[in-house]
Amino acid sequence: MKLLIVYDSRTGNTEKMAHAVSEGVKSAGVEATLRKVDEASVDELPLYQGLILGSPVYYGLPSSKIKEFLDVSVKHHGKLEGMVGGAFASSGGTHTGAETTIISLLEALMVHGMVVQGTSSTNHYGAASVGAPDEKALEVCRRMGERLGKLAKKLNT
Ligand SMILES: Cc1cc2nc3c(=O)[nH]c(=O)nc-3n(C[C@H](O)[C@H](O)[C@H](O)COP(=O)(O)O)c2cc1C
Repeated sequence: MKLLIVYDSRTGNTEKMAHAVSEGVKSAGVEATLRKVDEASVDELPLYQGLILGSPVYYGLPSSKIKEFLDVSVKHHGKLEGMVGGAFASSGGTHTGAETTIISLLEALMVHGMVVQGTSSTNHYGAASVGAPDEKALEVCRRMGERLGKLAKKLNT
């Protein structure tokens, strides 16, 4: 059982979140592979039970690199049904596009037929952080990773 985390990050904030998400996935007893989007290949997607995307907020949307990764993933369209999907985002401000960015990513993952799980506690749609993530934001990332790891286990037993 393994989940792939693909993230973009120019100044390191989303990258820090990605590491915390990875810790959370592992804490659920599931393998996690971290890939910066420049080094990620859609070719490995079918090897995973889940895909978690992380992006900085650029004009209220995911970065073009993450969008490009999604666009190239059309190669596997129809073959990723039932995978776990998740998303997180780093923004420069509060109420300035983190949730719209996360929702955009989840929309794309749902077009692939992935299973998306929200949470009734804070950060309902996925982990969001302003600037460099503090310990509280990193904990939200870990909890999200753990939740998605557990979901992958449930869906694959
Ligand atoms: C081209 C560009 C557009 C941005 N647009 C937004 C925005 O719409 N809302 C926002 O809150 N932050 C915006 N930011 C700030 C980044 O989202 C923020 O600095 C983020 O933490 C960067 O993540 P990173 O360190 O992983 O690159 C923008 C930054 C850049 C470079």
